[in-house]
Amino acid sequence: MNKVILLANRPVGKPAASDFKFEDIVMPSPKDGEVLLKTTYVSVDPYLRGRMSDAKSYVAPFELNKPMSSAIIAEVTESENPDFKVGDYITAGLEWKLFQTSNGKGLSKVDPSVSLTAYLGALGMTGLTALMGLQEIGKPKSGETLVVSGAAGAVGSIVGQIGKIMGCRVIGIAGSDEKVAALKSKFGFDEAINYKTTENMQEAVAAAAPDGVDIYFDNVGGDISDAVIFNMNKYGRIAICGTISSYNDTEASKGPRLQPYILKNSMLMQGFIVSNYANKFPEGVKQLSAWLKAGKLQYSETIVNGFDQIPQAFMDLFEGKNDGKMVVKI
Ligand SMILES: NC(=O)c1ccc[n+]([C@@H]2O[C@H](COP(=O)([O-])OP(=O)(O)OC[C@H]3O[C@@H](n4cnc5c(N)ncnc54)[C@H](OP(=O)(O)O)[C@@H]3O)[C@@H](O)[C@H]2O)c1
Repeated sequence: MNKVILLANRPVGKPAASDFKFEDIVMPSPKDGEVLLKTTYVSVDPYLRGRMSDAKSYVAPFELNKPMSSAIIAEVTESENPDFKVGDYITAGLEWKLFQTSNGKGLSKVDPSVSLTAYLGALGMTGLTALMGLQEIGKPKSGETLVVSGAAGAVGSIVGQIGKIMGCRVIGIAGSDEKVAALKSKFGFDEAINYKTTENMQEAVAAAAPDGVDIYFDNVGGDISDAVIFNMNKYGRIAICGTISSYNDTEASKGPRLQPYILKNSMLMQGFIVSNYANKFPEGVKQLSAWLKAGKLQYSETIVNGFDQIPQAFMDLFEGKNDGKMVVKI
């Protein structure tokens, strides 16, 4: 038995279960040169929200009534391709199906003796996003102060730890007391702020960063970012990684005009897409693996069980129900 999840509607505001459609489909059989892949783990990510809309972006939108897709770990269960044998595990951008065939292009083998899910998180796009954004735009120097929003999430928790490795004072912003506690106890952040219970975020950031903020790694945008940016120092750097607080907005929100502050402080604000740095990925993965092996990087995962739960796990990202990387185990 095989199943697929299709995009049923383009969501308006928050995505809903009715925006997805499950269908039973035939079990494919690999032709010469192909492999049959059994989906093992599915990554759900905030950026998929952008692909559900048809607004112009850096990646093509999903098509209506066509399969959703994301980064997946799959097992090779039949092989007509000499490069893959039964029992190999691979990662690739694949469709939300229980089984699918592939001609092998774009599949990367993963080492099952390392945690498979790490290839969707700390050793995958998540870890590389954290490393590239911080290294290439944040350019941290020892003794500087780094603030990370979305800090207890997949990318944010890695950013803060890399900041600590680089010698920064690190402050995290997250949405629950449990997350704030974990930022300090598990991930080694110096300070953490619960944005949901803090009345004046600008004052809270000022108190946590007595020397001001030199680098802001922004995963969320909106009011949280305004509060951080007005605490930044001369030559401050802002890496805009994500703006999840606005992904479900139906109207563009209006915030304070930042340009005069950015001008007066000679600051840099730069957005990035991790694939901008694709030429640095091999070296990045090597670095992340070395830190993981040395116990310098910790990561959290929220693993949800069942193919049928993929849409809900995705929607739960917008409610902050994940600690670290949200993954669905099939
Ligand atoms: N530029 C790139 O190439 C790239 C690559 C990967 C990811 N990203 C972006 O990086 C960000 C983090 O991605 P991720 O995969 O690591 O996801 P994640 O942080 O693991 O999950 C999303 C988190 O966002 C927080 N959140 C949800 N709604 C929010 C709101 N309205 N205001 C503030 N926080 C909110 C929630 O945590 P709380 O409980 O703390 O609210 C939630 O756990 C996203 O914006 C994503 O789009 C960018």
